[in-house]
Amino acid sequence: MERILSGMRPTGYLHLGNYVGALKQWVYLQDSYECFYMVADLHAMTTDFDGNIDLRNLTVEMVIDWLACGIDPNRSVIFVQSMVPQHLELFTIFSMITPLGWLERNPTYKDAKENIKDKDLSNLGFLAYPVLQAADILVYKASKVPVGKDQLPHLEITREIVRRFNYFFGEVFPEPQPILGEVPHLYGIDGRKMSKSYNNAIYIKDSEEEIYKKIKMMVTDIGRARRSDPGNPDECKTFPLYKSFYQEVIPDVVYECTNAKIGCVECKDRIAKGVINFLKPIKERRSYYEKNRDEVIDILKEGAKRAKEVAEKTMEEVREVVKIKL
Ligand code: TRP
Ligand code: SF4
Repeated sequence: MERILSGMRPTGYLHLGNYVGALKQWVYLQDSYECFYMVADLHAMTTDFDGNIDLRNLTVEMVIDWLACGIDPNRSVIFVQSMVPQHLELFTIFSMITPLGWLERNPTYKDAKENIKDKDLSNLGFLAYPVLQAADILVYKASKVPVGKDQLPHLEITREIVRRFNYFFGEVFPEPQPILGEVPHLYGIDGRKMSKSYNNAIYIKDSEEEIYKKIKMMVTDIGRARRSDPGNPDECKTFPLYKSFYQEVIPDVVYECTNAKIGCVECKDRIAKGVINFLKPIKERRSYYEKNRDEVIDILKEGAKRAKEVAEKTMEEVREVVKIKL
């Protein structure tokens, strides 16, 4: 089986946007790939370096969501970046062959420097973010990387590092390819893109009441002023939730909406029920792991052990070609 690696920074609880944007794909990729799923706690530190967040706790909460959504520790290697020191060794070696210009030109770097004003991002680690990401991927020689569009510049830098390394030291690494899923765009309760930083998200761990309340607040088709006006699901900020989570036989919402056969209140009620039903088994597993956090920690220890075996093999080969360590 081909090997894939992907990672997420530990942001704590995951929301429905994270589910449809990444986790859902991670779950089904388990059927056809050997999967390595990593908590990028050191990447989180590139921007949160002042000790004000509890990375351990955020890590466990996020992994609980992963497990609840169907990431299966018997099939996939689930691990924490900081527990596999081989990433750091490879990062150091890659940092020797990575020209600063590649990093300074990195669009995600330039973007963050321009837009994030409440933090000082002039630290070395943040500039080197893509180099660490390259080490994450290549220490397992992963050939595919499921990522969102926003990560493509980082993957391109990974591929450039591969080419340069292989040019200097021989064909050691494969050039990894992205796996880009089709990602439905979910909106938050304020009509903007669902995002933790906008504080508008519906979380996997939210209670049924919270989910009802949040969906009630959501924007529909603003062109539909009266109940008797026909609506347009494509203009409705709630409809994407319906498409992503309603699992039963789909009543013809599009017909009902465009012909004013249903009111938005009633329609959103149905959407909320769909989301709640979808989340039911996920939440059951979530509360199991919430009560058995030791089991989660054991999974991560076992994951680190399996990850280290693979990573160490790559590093032996790397040390050999680089001619370090006697
Ligand atoms: N940078 C990724 C993100 O913010 C997380 C990440 C770290 C990652 N290392 C990775 C993703 C390796 C894919 C492969 O989403
Ligand atoms: Fe959206 Fe449903 Fe209202 Fe149509 S009827 S605008 S799909 S909430």
